[in-house]
Amino acid sequence: MAKALTLVGVLALLTIGFLAFVKLRAPSNLERAEALAHAEKKKLEPLFPVPVFSYVDQHRAPVTNTSLVGKVWVANFIFTTCRTICPMLTARMVQLQRALPGVDVRFLSFSVDPANDTPAVLTAYAKKWAPDEPRWTLLATDAETLPVTAAGFHVTAEKNKPGELDPIIHSSVFVLIDRAGMVRGVYDSEHREDLKALANAVRTLAGAQAPMPQQGAPSGLELYHSESCATCHEAPELAPPLFGRAGSRVTFDNGITAAFDAEYVKESLLAPDAKRAKGYPLHMPGYDHLSAEALLVLTKYVLEAPAEAPAATAEVPVEVDPVCHMKVRATPDALAAEHGGHRFFFCSKSCLGRFSATPGVFLPDGG
Ligand code: HEC
Repeated sequence: MAKALTLVGVLALLTIGFLAFVKLRAPSNLERAEALAHAEKKKLEPLFPVPVFSYVDQHRAPVTNTSLVGKVWVANFIFTTCRTICPMLTARMVQLQRALPGVDVRFLSFSVDPANDTPAVLTAYAKKWAPDEPRWTLLATDAETLPVTAAGFHVTAEKNKPGELDPIIHSSVFVLIDRAGMVRGVYDSEHREDLKALANAVRTLAGAQAPMPQQGAPSGLELYHSESCATCHEAPELAPPLFGRAGSRVTFDNGITAAFDAEYVKESLLAPDAKRAKGYPLHMPGYDHLSAEALLVLTKYVLEAPAEAPAATAEVPVEVDPVCHMKVRATPDALAAEHGGHRFFFCSKSCLGRFSATPGVFLPDGG
């Protein structure tokens, strides 16, 4: 009898031990980030508090987890010299910013390369990608605390194997944080649906209204800049130049060639990975969020623009629409409004209308 009891006891202990082991086996950060990214997005339930951190931004101003309390913010992780994935992440970040014009939200990009990404380097990077986005903060981190911060967000930021193209590997997720410093969602920036869900979640948390339908179609030149095409395609180390190539042939990484025509440009925008231009490690982001009309206008522009970037357009001063942050050519007939002794330019009547109703909302200092 005593023996049987001992056996039961031992079995019970083993079972408890096994269950505890299963429960305690810590999933890797990547597993956790992926699991969270694929979890139900709509509920926006609090997931975990942001970790404690204290860094400086591109203007050398201190930014800490507590200085962000009271704000809704979106965080991602990049480094400025990265050639494989960050340009795409940053293109997505800029798209997100443009999709949330006038919304009271901050965008934070944590550098995962503290040795190289100084505030000066980050300023230059911000200027290249989104020169007129006051809501975007880039953080210069430090080597001691970065692993703790990354772990606190459940993201990976580690040194890559020697010999790989990029020296650092890191997660491509976007993290959404509420006014109380609680993480409310983790989104996979490589999925279009995730980015849409993120933009909606930001609006919900920030108490912003649904977006106004865009009026007044942007020109090919405007789309080329507002969709970040210029930032990648005018940096030869990142992407092939696009102008002056209509009718020429393209060689893909599998050796097959094709004509550089309207169909090919459109396919490059809708399914960029279907045919990959030879020699570029970076993947181009998909543009299936653009309307059929915008795709047509953009394709025409890419095929017809001369090999040199059009000089005539460069002479017209370019201003930034304070509502949607799109670049606008400040021609005499452009849509404009005076406010506080300054002339503002707009891409569309809808933006002009929104600005005229509440100018303060769209000015960094509250107007
Ligand atoms: C994040 C950087 C990035 C952005 C932003 C980007 N592209 Fe690309 N694009 C690339 C890279 C890299 C390639 C070459 C690899 C490939 O074919 O996928 C490419 C290839 C192309 C090609 C095929 C070129 C060839 O030589 O075969 C076209 C056309 C193109 N992009 C148009 C555009 C347009 C138009 C936009 C803006 C709406 C844009 N791209 C935005 C990185 C980018």
